[in-house]
Order: sequence, then C-alpha cells, then structure tokens
Amino acid sequence: MCGIVGYIGNKKAVPVLINGLLSLEYRGYDSAGIAVLNQSNNEYDLKVVKDKGRVKNLEANPELDTLLGTTGIAHTRWATHGMPSKENSHPHLDNSKKFAVVHNGIIENYVELRKILQDNGYTLYSETDTEVIPNLIHMNYNGNILEAVSKTMKLLKGSYAIEVISPLFPDKIIVAKKDSPLVVGIGKNENYVASDIPAVLAHTNNFYFLDEQEIAVVEKDSIKFYDINLKEVKKDIKNIEWDAESSEKNGFEDYMLKEIYEQPQAIRETIGSRLSLDEKVNLELGNIDFTKFDKIYIVACGTAMHAGIAAKYSLEKFCKIPTEVDMASEFRYRNPLVNEHTLCIFISQSGETADTIAALRLAKEAGATTISVVNVIGSSITRLSDYTIYTHAGPEIAVASTKAYTCQVTLLNILAIYIAEALGYNSEELNKFKVDLLELPDKVKDVLETMEQVKDFAEKVYTQKDLYFIGRGLDYAVSMEGSLKLKEISYIHSEAYAAGELKHGPIALIEKGTTVIGVATSPITTEKTLSNLEESITRGANVLVVTNQNIKNGKIDLMIHIPGTNPYLSPVLSVIPLQLFAYYIAKNKKLDVDKPRNLAKSVTVE
Ligand code: G6P
Repeated sequence: MCGIVGYIGNKKAVPVLINGLLSLEYRGYDSAGIAVLNQSNNEYDLKVVKDKGRVKNLEANPELDTLLGTTGIAHTRWATHGMPSKENSHPHLDNSKKFAVVHNGIIENYVELRKILQDNGYTLYSETDTEVIPNLIHMNYNGNILEAVSKTMKLLKGSYAIEVISPLFPDKIIVAKKDSPLVVGIGKNENYVASDIPAVLAHTNNFYFLDEQEIAVVEKDSIKFYDINLKEVKKDIKNIEWDAESSEKNGFEDYMLKEIYEQPQAIRETIGSRLSLDEKVNLELGNIDFTKFDKIYIVACGTAMHAGIAAKYSLEKFCKIPTEVDMASEFRYRNPLVNEHTLCIFISQSGETADTIAALRLAKEAGATTISVVNVIGSSITRLSDYTIYTHAGPEIAVASTKAYTCQVTLLNILAIYIAEALGYNSEELNKFKVDLLELPDKVKDVLETMEQVKDFAEKVYTQKDLYFIGRGLDYAVSMEGSLKLKEISYIHSEAYAAGELKHGPIALIEKGTTVIGVATSPITTEKTLSNLEESITRGANVLVVTNQNIKNGKIDLMIHIPGTNPYLSPVLSVIPLQLFAYYIAKNKKLDVDKPRNLAKSVTVE
C-alpha cells in the first residue's frame, strides 16, 4: 500500500524524507508528496510539495528547494479513493491550512464524515478518504492537539496510520495508528517515523512499534505514547538487525510469502465498509437494472479466471442467473452470445491484461453491461468498463498472484449479494452469508498457522515430476488454482481434475510415489472425493488433504485442517495451504519464487 516517512531533528528534513520514500518504492505507488515546517525567526510556515508520478519527479521539482525546515512528513500514495492526481496526493491540508496529514489505510466511513464536515462549512478539494482527517482534527482542535487527534480517531472507521504536523506545535510530529503499520525510529537528537522499517533503516536500528489505536508524540529528543483515551503507555525499544534485502520485504524472504501473509488485512480492506449486517451491500454500481439480465459471463485470465470460477457458484445460487466463466483469450474469438441482456464481469489484478481488454471491448460493442473487478486504480480496464469495483489488495509484486485471488473471490461474493438484494432476494441464508464473509479475515489468519505442516510435506515431495490436485465443485475450482501456482513457480508438471473424472483416464497416471492433493471442504461431496483419493492410495500415491470436514482415514499422509465457513467462501481459505505448498516446493528447489521464468506480472500482449 502507501508509504509513510517522517523526520524531526536538526538536519534539513527533505533529503531524509526523499531517501525514505525511495527505499519504499519497491512497494508500488503512483504519487508522492512532502510537507515541511519552514522557520523564519520564530514564525513557522507549512509548505507542501506533491504530485502524481515518481519520487524522482518530486525530487526534481524546483519548489522542493523552498522546503528548508527540519520537521517534515512524506508519503507515497497507491490510489484507493480517486485517481492518481496532484489534488489526491498526500499530504492533505485542512481548510485553515494549519494541519498537514499523511495517511495509509482506508477510512471506511469517509462519505459520512465528508457530509458532517460539509454541514459544518468545510470544503473538500480531493476525492480521497484521507482529506477528512486534517479537517476533523481542525474541527476538534481547542488548543490541545492530543485531544483533537483522540477525538478524531474515535470518529474514524477503517484502517489508518497517520502523521500530523502543524505550525501550531512546530516541535512535534503526532502519529497514530489502527490496522496499518507504523514505527518510530530512535535517533540521537533526532527521531523518525515510518510505515515500514526499511524507510529509516539507514539511520537507526532501534524502534518503537505502535499498537492498535495508539498515539505517539515525537519530538527531536523525546517520544511519548498514549492510548486513544490519552493515558500514557510505556513501550520497550526493539532492535532490528535486518539487511537491506530482507527489510524491503518487511522481514519475509520473498514478496510472495509476504503477500500470502498480507491476506487477512487485504481481505479486511476489500470488505471495508461495503458489507454490514443490518444494511444492504454498498457497491458503487449506480442504478443498474439487474432484472434485464438473463445471463452472466465472467471473463478473465489465469488466477483471475480461477477467482471467477469460484464465484460462479454463489452468483448462480443467490442471483439465480445462469453464469458462465470464460478465458478472455477464448471468449474474444468464439462469437459468444452477448447482447443487452448480458452482464459481463471482467476480473483483473493489473487491469492491463491484453486479452481481457479485448474481450471487454467486444462485450461492450455487443451491448452488454460491463462490471470490472480490478486491483489497480485507474488502469485501462477501469477506464473502459461501464462500472468498476476495486479489490483493495494493495500492490502485488510477486508474479504468482495470491492476495489478489482471495480478494477477488471475496469481492465477487459481495457482488453476488449486491445483485441478489437488487433483485429483491432477501433471505436468512443471505444474512448468514454476510456474517460468514465478515468472519473471513480472522479465519484466514488461522489457516496461515498450517504453514509448518505444509512446509514439511513440501520437503518430502519436492523432487516429484508430476502432481495432481483433485476436488469437486468449489474444491475443484481451488484445485485449479493450486495446480497453477505450483506450475508457475516450481516448474513441476501438475494437473487439476474434477475428482469424479479421475477414473475416466487420469488414474492411469497414478503409480507408487505419485503425489495427489485432495481438497475436500464440501459436506456434500467430501465422501465422494475421499473415495477418489482411496483409488489413488490403492495405487501407491502420497496423499495430502486440505479439509474442514471431520475425516477419519488413517491412510492419508497429511491432513491440513482449516476452519469451517460458508461453502461458497471456502476457496478463500482452502487455497492458502496450496499457495504455501507451491511456495515451499519452489524454495526447496532453490528457485526464484517472485520472478518465475517465462512469466510476467502484467501480460499486455496477446
Ligand atoms: C499473468 C500473471 C497471472 C495473472 C494473469 C492475469 O498470466 O502471471 O498471475 O493471473 O496474468 O492477470 P490480471 O492482471 O489480469 O489479473
């Protein structure tokens, strides 16, 4: 996501801030900005320089030479609300231009907060969720900045890591966080703030970590911490001895593993304020008349297409509209039956995949209504589609997609509820589905605990030449994704089969020592899948099973137990051991997990 840096000390702030931003560049961003407190005599003045584009552009901006102060905050933005633009870049100022704020995270109730501010005479100049924060601080400020920040925090729903500076308290940077990382780096007569350790690792190895809903008052020679009710909190210093490479990955060996572990938070942000129990799902889809559709096509490539296959089931179940999933490269050349009664849903992490773009153009020309599910704000697909809903997975750097997939499946299920509600289908089952969706992020966290078991199994089977994944229904959809992950990064030949098809051919390939991975989460089909696994065991296969069912079978080599959930959501959980499996197989083979051979993150050619 976005990056935050802050500096307070005796040096000029700008070079420290620019270097900090440069060391966060690997995370992906579209805009950059800095605010500094300039001093002349005893007067302080807030100066902001920001724009869309790279940190290098910011560095080259002549206005930056006017930022001379020794206290400053800086930010790289990865757009979530509003396109990349100067206005939407951080830092944001309040209307009185006395408070400058940078923010990471998503303020879920920003629409409501904007309204409150507007009713109180404030004007908002950007499309961002962030701009409410400096204005709320201004509205709550009665001469005590800690009180103003604490009151503001109590109004914010969602996630945030913020830094605030102001000429009203020129010797301080105020920082606060909830569900978004923030650290304070300790120097000598100078201190640092950062969203990520690498941003300031060049200056210090000693850090304080803020906990949830904590505030820090950072001065050049003191750092104090408070809880949200302004009770002082004591903290221990942590010493971080990271090398430059591991620090870029926040301590993880590879981006892929980092991104696998980011899934609970990414899914939480994707759900955001779209879903709550007592209200209808909230998606920015205007006034689409869903009664006119007699067919849904989901079109995408690779992992995104697998997310579509996993979502087809709930779309058909809850919306009662026949749904087909197509590979974009096939759809565009097969004269699909598309007209004004067709809803076409396009899924893409990058929003730039050439085949998906071509399929989208074709669907539009044929009169379909088009909705895209995309991760990168402002990408080509979002500009071409009638409607876009964003996954908020954050930048995905590893070529093999992980968190984008789970966020896509999550968002498509939210879309299924949205359409069902628009069609007037309100059922107990639908309400229960919402509860299950809201519980997903914590359950994803639990599944990550299976890591050691998966790692051990991967160590045993990484020399294999062929591997098979089987499952039925949604478990088959996940098997396809597990098999793709393995192919992509471990270069092992693997196939996914609908478990019932095994006996119609592929079973001929199973021999002593072949590994078969079964996914069995459906109460209806687990017994059947187990029978198919038995057929493999009889022929000498090593078997790993990912399940949330109570399976009693002593012949299975390893059973990975995952939490139960709504069957339509099980792909979000059952895919995680398979992601980890592919990862550890590739690690055992000493391969470059993040940049597999012959593959690209964004495929902009046919
Ligand atoms: C490439 C990537 C895959 C990705 C697919 C679709 O093949 O290597 O990981 O799933 O493109 O990309 P998109 O950006 O459209 O989701």
